[in-house]
Amino acid sequence: MNHASATAVSRYSGIAITLHWLLALLLVAMFVLGVYMSGLPFSPQRLKLYNWHKWTGMVVLTLSFIRLLWRLTHRPPALPAAVAAAMPPWQHWAHHGTHYALYGLFFAVPLIGWAYSSAAGFPIVVFGVLPLPDFVPVNKALAEAIKPWHGYAAFAMAALVLLHVAAALKHQLIDRDGLLARMLPGRR
Ligand code: HEM
Ligand code: HEM
Repeated sequence: MNHASATAVSRYSGIAITLHWLLALLLVAMFVLGVYMSGLPFSPQRLKLYNWHKWTGMVVLTLSFIRLLWRLTHRPPALPAAVAAAMPPWQHWAHHGTHYALYGLFFAVPLIGWAYSSAAGFPIVVFGVLPLPDFVPVNKALAEAIKPWHGYAAFAMAALVLLHVAAALKHQLIDRDGLLARMLPGRR
């Protein structure tokens, strides 16, 4: 194989790969938990799940911040020349656009959730010990206005993730261009 060295320079770094898969898992779990818990009848169980959702959401927000800092200070590998050449302009646009939009939603979704909790008068106490400041005032009308937007943003992120995974599978199974290997833990 004469492209071994090209493969080595075109992979994501170990930190980027770890953050990608850790956050992929956490975000999917958060989405499922959010939909599940908000459909439950009022009960101590529902309250407990809401708290878990909020605490884990703050962990996700912190990890996303670390990820963004890493991303801004470490260029991702350029697409392999053959792959880039095979992609029509709209796919280049979709590739970058999806990643930008996902990064935006990594912050929008938890921050809107936090704003809603603050406005509703349920401040967040991380793991029951660390109280977080309210950055919007307690106001029922404001809380009701914010509430649907957390869900809209989360569903928009889910739609982009489905598109993202479909694209990854298309590269892997139809194009067979090895793009997925860039994001998989490997020997190098
Ligand atoms: C089965 C699930 C998944 C697969 C197979 C997958 C695969 C990939 C691959 C191959 C890349 C690198 C693309 C390239 O080479 O340029 C990538 C990047 C990325 N993925 Fe995923 N992914 C999955 C799930 C997710 C989830 C659930 C999220 C977020 C909720 C996500 C967010 C991202 C982001 C933001 C990038 C861009 C990374 C960067 O450049 O900083 N992925 N993914
Ligand atoms: C970080 C990623 C997060 C994801 C993916 C996520 C996802 C979701 C989803 C899908 C729902 C259900 C919405 C619906 O069915 O309309 C939900 C509900 C909720 N989320 Fe999140 N969430 C996240 C973070 C947070 C954070 C950080 C907080 C607060 C600090 C939060 C607070 C809430 C609350 C209070 C609800 C219930 C709203 C209701 O009663 O309808 N979420 N979340």
